[in-house]
Amino acid sequence: PAAALDLKEAILQLKKERNAVILAHNYQTGDIQDLADYVGDSLGLAYKAKETDADVIVFCGVHFMAETAKIVNPTKTVVLPDKDAGCSLEQSCPGPELEAFLKDNAGKNYYVIAYINCSAHVKSLCDVICTSGNAVRIVEQAPAERPILFVPDANLGAWVMEQTGRKMDLWQGSCYVHVEFTRDSIQRIKDEYPDALVVAHPECTQAVRLLADEVCSTEKMIAFCKEAPADNIIVVTESGMLHRLQKEVPEKNLIPGPTDRCACADCKYMKLNTLEKLHDCLAKLEPEVVLPEDIRARAEVPLLRMLEQSQ
Ligand code: 13P
Ligand code: SF4
Repeated sequence: PAAALDLKEAILQLKKERNAVILAHNYQTGDIQDLADYVGDSLGLAYKAKETDADVIVFCGVHFMAETAKIVNPTKTVVLPDKDAGCSLEQSCPGPELEAFLKDNAGKNYYVIAYINCSAHVKSLCDVICTSGNAVRIVEQAPAERPILFVPDANLGAWVMEQTGRKMDLWQGSCYVHVEFTRDSIQRIKDEYPDALVVAHPECTQAVRLLADEVCSTEKMIAFCKEAPADNIIVVTESGMLHRLQKEVPEKNLIPGPTDRCACADCKYMKLNTLEKLHDCLAKLEPEVVLPEDIRARAEVPLLRMLEQSQ
């Protein structure tokens, strides 16, 4: 329709005027993905944010991702379409709670590894950050003599322990979307497509991961689906990934993993962003990510360590 075309044109025009770059996560709606300069997983987006020479970064994802872009770009303007685009993992580990926990357990001398799905405050309290795409590599490089505290995702943490054999103490957080997939819901779709392979995100529970042929970050799912020796692939992650995958791997039949209640799983936070809100945040340059400089500077250290260690 003409109105949608006008909106897209207006966004591209504003983008030029502002010298802005549009970064979008794999879970964004198809119309936002199609308009973005770069679409990827948290790791790819962190690298892109670090290397951009645009004046304005428009981050279509959730708040902690936009915040990550600001941490490595203190002089740039970072805006996001909806400031309420949160994340249940971020909420499961409030900065003051982690601060108190570390104080109470100071004797343990924890090496703290934070999954990137957390606030800048939590990042500022840890030694290194990881994403689902590099978690195994980052944990393998942790000092052998120190106990590890892994925050906030207990499912990702458990998967990394299985992969590396390294014991870690796990913060008990979870992603409300990925824990909706159950052994029964995935077994049922497997029974429907007996020759299908299953790829799942490591935020899924162990019961679901055990049914998967591959467990990996959203970006790595693309290579898996391309190379997998199967025509049918069940994709157990948030629904936006299917749009990206269908574009990149059109020759395969990609089947969204169902939950017990729905045929696929949406992240309500990721889906708060719309083309209209994307247009408005470019026009008004708000909502803008603003961070206290002391927190930003302290959060940048473990973030840069991650980028270095995952090369
Ligand atoms: P990826 O880093 O694999 O894209 O995952 C981000 C996320 O929010 C998963 O729920
Ligand atoms: Fe957070 Fe889960 Fe949404 Fe990813 S899918 S942004 S982990 S709530």
